[in-house]
Amino acid sequence: MVTIAIANNKGGVGKTTTALCVADALSRAGKRVLVVDMDPQCNTTTTAHGEIEGVNTMFDYLKEECSIEEALQKADENRRFDLIPNDPLLSVREAEFASQVTKLKLLKRGLKTLAKQYDYCLIDTPPQFGFYTTTSLLSCDGVVVPIDAEKFAVDGLGSLLKYIDGLKVENEELEVYGVLVTKVDMRHSETKVFLENMPTYAEHFGFKIFDSKIRVCADLAKAQSRLIPVYDYDRHSKASFDYDNFVDELQEVV
Ligand SMILES: Nc1ncnc2c1ncn2[C@@H]1O[C@H](COP(=O)(O)OP(=O)(O)OP(=O)(O)O)[C@@H](O)[C@H]1O
Ligand SMILES: [Mg+2]
Repeated sequence: MVTIAIANNKGGVGKTTTALCVADALSRAGKRVLVVDMDPQCNTTTTAHGEIEGVNTMFDYLKEECSIEEALQKADENRRFDLIPNDPLLSVREAEFASQVTKLKLLKRGLKTLAKQYDYCLIDTPPQFGFYTTTSLLSCDGVVVPIDAEKFAVDGLGSLLKYIDGLKVENEELEVYGVLVTKVDMRHSETKVFLENMPTYAEHFGFKIFDSKIRVCADLAKAQSRLIPVYDYDRHSKASFDYDNFVDELQEVV
């Protein structure tokens, strides 16, 4: 199992969208896929029809009240991949979890027990460097960093990469697979400038930019509000095409 965290402490850059679209594309390609929602906002859980009430979730697993297997929800007619859902209650417990060093290792240990069941595990993370992002980065093989194609997108990138680098003491294998540019709209001259400048930033910070780009696509929001994968909403939409292309590239990199 290759475990990939989708991380950026900047909000709204397409982490959840990327986790869901990549998971859907990999599943359609016949891969066995697990998605882990580590964000207490639960956007991945709700969009992918995860149950929260009356079942075990990541919250119960981190409280050590169930096994990771018991928090797992199998693929069904609404979702092509398996899911470990989150619970909004996780947000109020972050400080408590963070104060116990042993909690940081729980996710990695749990995922190890599932490794034979899956080809890929995707972890969606919240938009900050807290316990949930840290534990995700300590539990994965590599990171995909989505950034949106706008002026300030690269501002936090240096600190994010430094933060990831610092975690290599604990997780030696941790690799930045690359930066994925999302919400690309070539009608805007700023986007063109942004994309032209990206190779310079990449060289400066020492990261790879994926050749595949995700164009801005209104169908994503429409599909997400209907709680269906964008591929099922319109398999010819720009997002379906771009994420399928990205998944081809990603599989070559990991
Ligand atoms: N390529 C795209 N084109 C148009 N809209 C997009 C695109 N990607 C994501 N969005 C929209 O941008 C918003 C934020 O996306 P998303 O929730 O994936 O970001 P996020 O990084 O997970 O946010 P957060 O940091 O809050 O978890 C959503 O409304 C989503 O539909
Ligand atoms: Mg999100």
